[in-house]
Amino acid sequence: MSKLRLGGIQIGYDDEGDGPVLVLLHGYPFNRSQWRDQLTAFSKSHRVIAPDLRGHGETDVTATTIQGMAQDVAELMTALDVNTAIIGGLSMGGYVALSFYRRFPERVTALVLADTRASADTDTARQNRAVQAERALREGMQGIADEMVPKLLGPETVAKKPEVVQRLRQMMVSTNPKGAESALKAMATREDQIAFLSQIQTPTFIVVGRDDAITPVVDSELMHREIIGSQLEVIEHSGHVSNLEQPDEFNVRLREFLSSL
Ligand code: MLT
Repeated sequence: MSKLRLGGIQIGYDDEGDGPVLVLLHGYPFNRSQWRDQLTAFSKSHRVIAPDLRGHGETDVTATTIQGMAQDVAELMTALDVNTAIIGGLSMGGYVALSFYRRFPERVTALVLADTRASADTDTARQNRAVQAERALREGMQGIADEMVPKLLGPETVAKKPEVVQRLRQMMVSTNPKGAESALKAMATREDQIAFLSQIQTPTFIVVGRDDAITPVVDSELMHREIIGSQLEVIEHSGHVSNLEQPDEFNVRLREFLSSL
């Protein structure tokens, strides 16, 4: 666990292992501890860097955008002497990974897009985010966690894996409501990347939980159709947080992809 100051803000991150660099970007409203199982598994073969995105974990809260988060990742890599990396992200982290590739394609050796989508928000989604942001500021994260956890996790995880439910909940309630508000605004104003997908020219691994209700399998299928040469894996018995719900299966499939690079 490390922290550094970049451009006036503190960034919290993990940086473990040696080898090709694998950057892992967490979802909303989580933090870098989401990647604990991947940090353990992949730091044996890779240098794994997992930052807290702006507004989350131990990284400062400020107003931001998805592009701003991608810029933070680029600056963190530079500060850590990393020129190129495999850039992976889950959900909001996937939005940041796509934005990173769009801005800095020369710094990306491969992309990992987990439980995410390329489209921008609909008007309804934007309205829902505004309501949630207002609720986070008014009530804190408890009620939001209660409401979101059963939507985020697959039914089998909810029924059979209380420790995963607890872990996810813990991450959510520890998120600063102001950080949640800025992330919601950032997601609501993110660019639509669908037309850009066909320009991606880096090996791309797409993975999604079969029961993902937030970014369903069809979103991943669309990315798979548009990104030339991409690989799509669907993880059974998993909802939206596939790396946490089925870590062994997630890791096996990701390792196969990484070995092919
Ligand atoms: C996430 O898991 O990062 C969010 O649920 C994504 C979103 O709300 O679009």
